[in-house]
Amino acid sequence: MRRAKITIVGAGNVGATAAVWAAARELGDIVLVDVPAVEGLPQGKALDLYQASPIEGFDARIVGATSYEPTADSDVVIITAGIARKPGMNRDDLMNINTGIVRSVSEQVAKFSPNAILIVVSNPLDAMVYVAWKGSGFPTRRVLGQAGILDTARFRAFLAAEIGCSVEDIQALLLGGHGDDMVPLPRYTSVAGIPITQLVHPDRLNDIIRRTRNGGAEIVSLLKTGSAYYAPASATIQMAESIIKDKKRILPCAVYCDKEYGVGGFFVGVPCVLGKQGVERIIEVQLDPDERNAFETSVEHVRQLVMQVKV
Ligand code: NAI
Ligand code: 2OP
Repeated sequence: MRRAKITIVGAGNVGATAAVWAAARELGDIVLVDVPAVEGLPQGKALDLYQASPIEGFDARIVGATSYEPTADSDVVIITAGIARKPGMNRDDLMNINTGIVRSVSEQVAKFSPNAILIVVSNPLDAMVYVAWKGSGFPTRRVLGQAGILDTARFRAFLAAEIGCSVEDIQALLLGGHGDDMVPLPRYTSVAGIPITQLVHPDRLNDIIRRTRNGGAEIVSLLKTGSAYYAPASATIQMAESIIKDKKRILPCAVYCDKEYGVGGFFVGVPCVLGKQGVERIIEVQLDPDERNAFETSVEHVRQLVMQVKV
């Protein structure tokens, strides 16, 4: 049986780390792509990772490249190409540079892997997934963005630390864009089935929501030279795994919503079923008036970002 083929464009922090998680889970063969200006970097990282395979016990072909021929017929393509945030920058500052990069990358991907499912990671996420959709010309079910799993993971991790319980017992949901106005939903958050509001005081819950919204900036201010990559890469590979193994996990991802949630044709974070076909179903949850207002504010920000995109 043919192994799945995963291309990761951008062999930087997120891309290379995603390759490690994908290899460790034995998801398939991996091609790591970067620009000719850094010739040797994707090849060197790929070879280094391949040499870990006898130790870690995974079988996969792992190659690096600065052209798209080796990526041909990939099943899943992850786009992490672009520049990352430095202190003082927000995600939107990355807009102009990353729009050009993601546009040209997605055109190349569509040429060489016309049947692939595209997972976009580059920021500003909700606009870049739109750019990749336009650039690739793929149907909306085959283009999605990673943000919600990362933001939810931050929320879950902070809650587990607060309660003093396993992270595995925290279930949470978060909607909207990957911005400071993302919408964590305490009403849909529970600990081993117990509503979170019974275990965490409202003031502490609000502190944790604030910290979650600021989660990316907190890491940037610590690292100083770039942004988070372990958790973002892990989140991305969870999406790839659900697609490649047709697991049909329900995960919060940036997906194209038109009538859904009344969004009107943009990519925003909502829960969806991920399987072999890509985005197989969007799940609409009921929102109370405050949650609906917060969601609409976040969607409005996404809409304004996308309006700035010249594609
Ligand atoms: P990085 O700077 O470590 O790596 C980016 C890589 O992209 C570099 O190796 C660069 O040479 C490469 N690149 C640039 N233009 C390219 C092109 N046209 N084709 C192929 N490769 C190209 O940055 P890092 O930390 O890996 O972040 C990558 C992107 O992901 C950034 O935009 C960052 O903001 C975003 N990000 C998004 C997250 C999310 O949750 N959606 C989380 C973390 C990062
Ligand atoms: C994050 O949330 C930089 O968007 C990235 O860490």
